Amino acid sequence: MYIKDLSLLNFRNIQDTTISFGKKINILYGDNAQGKTNLLEAVYICSTGRSHKTHIEGQLVKFGYDEAHIRTFICGECSNDRIDVHVKKDNRKGMAINGLAVKKMSDFFGTLHVVMFSPEDLRLVKGGPSERRRFMDMELCQLSNIYCRDLQNYHKVLKQRNNLLKNVQKNKELADTISVWDEQLIVYAEKIIDKRAEFVEKLNDISSEIHNSITSGKEKLSVSYKPNAEKNAFADKLLHNRERDIIFGSTSNGPHKDDMVFMIDGNDTKFFGSQGQQRTASLSAKLAEIQLIEAETGTTPVLLLDDVLSELDENRQSFLMENIGGLQTFITCTGVEDTVGKYIKESTVFNVKNGEFTKIN
Ligand SMILES: Nc1ncnc2c1ncn2[C@@H]1O[C@H](COP(=O)(O)OP(=O)(O)O)[C@@H](O)[C@H]1O
Ligand SMILES: [Mg+2]
Repeated sequence: MYIKDLSLLNFRNIQDTTISFGKKINILYGDNAQGKTNLLEAVYICSTGRSHKTHIEGQLVKFGYDEAHIRTFICGECSNDRIDVHVKKDNRKGMAINGLAVKKMSDFFGTLHVVMFSPEDLRLVKGGPSERRRFMDMELCQLSNIYCRDLQNYHKVLKQRNNLLKNVQKNKELADTISVWDEQLIVYAEKIIDKRAEFVEKLNDISSEIHNSITSGKEKLSVSYKPNAEKNAFADKLLHNRERDIIFGSTSNGPHKDDMVFMIDGNDTKFFGSQGQQRTASLSAKLAEIQLIEAETGTTPVLLLDDVLSELDENRQSFLMENIGGLQTFITCTGVEDTVGKYIKESTVFNVKNGEFTKIN
């Protein structure tokens, strides 16, 4: 799958532009704050329906304007598609695939597959659990509309339960209705737990092999899923912690507290790994994500590498570049010679300045 071209109107600092991309490596270089990440953000939105940087959609609209438009043409293995996203400053955004409006976020996923790789992703292993949950969810949502819907429903019910818990603090009689939300929460939680377990198992198989290659067989990586509550124990935990949940006005257990654990040679890399090991494990997981998408969907994703190459040492950089093979890849960097010099010949190169993209070769 590859993006043929992308049109942006009043998106961030980009006024009005249409850019045609190469099928393989596209290098976007330029000084800081020129619009490189903004372009990748627009591509990411076409895949997931949301920004990887902000929840506040109004921020996407160029200062001084009311609306932004993103349009992209995609050449897939089976079909060619047009994706339109229309962001309004004070209103809900509109999305369409091939001119047909998409009402639910879960129906939007799956047309364009992307894997975004930014310096934050190199902290996947080291960072907090919410980053690892986000990793699982963004991946699973791309793979399954059903998962995406279950996850949305889980969060909707969770919010309602938390509201109720706060109201129970003022009116004890309302406590009887908590069970109604618990029943629904359990239904969605079980589906999410099953899917995440299955996903991490597959991720483990692939990423341990990749990690083995990067370290020339010196280290053994294993990735496991750590649900906050096991599927069969969730109902009991909810009931057991109900009094506490009422006091705090929030639900203390459930998939919204899940985590993943990365072990190298039997030790938890988050606590015992060197920075280099943590980065290699994160890189292995991201590269595994690409293979998983290929295996599950039969399509190759588009790879977005935002300022990530300059953060990797030569060894890991070469490994990454050799392993992205034929994927359409967007690489952003400030110094084109320093970071990606050896790939220039085979790449489509753009200079980015003040929201404008000039094709160099
Ligand atoms: N809504 C917006 N309207 C206009 N400019 C914006 C908006 N949001 C961000 N910017 C500008 O975009 C620039 C940052 O672009 P970015 O793509 O992150 O830079 P880089 O090239 O370093 O990746 C900043 O100058 C910022 O002020
Ligand atoms: Mg940037």
